[in-house]
Amino acid sequence: MTKVTLSIIKADVGSYPGHVEAPPELIEACEKRLRGALENGLINDFYITRCGDDLELIMTHYNGVDSKEIHKLAWDSFNDAAKIAKKAKLYGAGQDLLKNAFSGNVRGMGPGVAEMEFEERPAESVVVFAADKTDPAAFSLPIYRMFSDPFSSAGLVIDKKMHQGFTFEVHDIKDHKKILLNTPEETYDLLALIGNTARYLIKRVYRRSDNEIAAVISTEKLSRIAGKYVGKDDPVAVVRGQSGFPAIGEILEPFAFPHIVAGWMRGSHRGPLLPVSEMDARPTRFDGPPRMMALGFNISDGVLIGPKDLFDDISFDNARRKALDIADYLRRHGPFEPHRLSEEEMEYTTLPEVLKKLEKRFKKE
Ligand code: F6R
Ligand code: MG
Ligand code: MG
Repeated sequence: MTKVTLSIIKADVGSYPGHVEAPPELIEACEKRLRGALENGLINDFYITRCGDDLELIMTHYNGVDSKEIHKLAWDSFNDAAKIAKKAKLYGAGQDLLKNAFSGNVRGMGPGVAEMEFEERPAESVVVFAADKTDPAAFSLPIYRMFSDPFSSAGLVIDKKMHQGFTFEVHDIKDHKKILLNTPEETYDLLALIGNTARYLIKRVYRRSDNEIAAVISTEKLSRIAGKYVGKDDPVAVVRGQSGFPAIGEILEPFAFPHIVAGWMRGSHRGPLLPVSEMDARPTRFDGPPRMMALGFNISDGVLIGPKDLFDDISFDNARRKALDIADYLRRHGPFEPHRLSEEEMEYTTLPEVLKKLEKRFKKE
């Protein structure tokens, strides 16, 4: 059977006011391109959304992951949108298109990518996540919970297909290395790594019973690919659900706890991750708090059925309330850690200049 590929490719190519929201005209520009690709058969189906100032192209096709044609399609779509953004003098127009010419795939050029290829099951349920004002490490705790924490995913204990556990592909983004770790046996080793959210990231998860792909997260760090720190990499992820994967409710359950992530104002703060509907994915307060949306689809012969806006539900109201209380509390720390990030993780800093200016006034104590 032919395998279908689900590709989520995202970029921030402009927004207004400031970094709040990518306007509909940018979505329309991408839609025009993707409709053409649908007509000529390059892609099978698509849905475009935006999470805050980021545009997300959700596409199904039969070209496999890292397809030059699909990546070029995304690149061209973002360029069309960036042109409109520049003309309208939107904020940060074209900011994630770091290179002038396309060179094979979008990795290293600014956009983020989460792609997986699989044989469609009789009913193929997936959840597409998109976040704004945070980085890919925001997924580490929830993905760990979905695939390794029996207090969150009951299936790990009581579903025969999940009971053998999962394999986590973890990337060391400083040394550009990766490792596969099996849970439950290597849970403590896995946590020893991913507890360091500034260095280790979960890239993929596989089901151990048959090595099926279960989840993929975009981990393209803008900081590294641009050669200098240009911004946090607002991430996307895809998780397959049901029939031996976590149920939709198990995929969403970790977000009932608004954990603290890096990002928020000027990419230099910590704040709670607010689970929101597509409608509410427009960060305002202190440019945040960091937001996460979740769209559910079924894939049927390569066609996307949906989306279902999964956080648009009263059962996440308590998480949102808690997140907003945490936001109030953290904000009162102002420029102090732990609200402010450590010097190495900050996107903005004046410390080198301040130190230089004060250099001569420092005396031995
Ligand atoms: C964070 C973010 C915003 C901006 C902030 C300042 O990811 O995008 O919080 O960092 O609005 O933006 P500039 O420096 O463009 O005025
Ligand atoms: Mg932005
Ligand atoms: Mg963004």
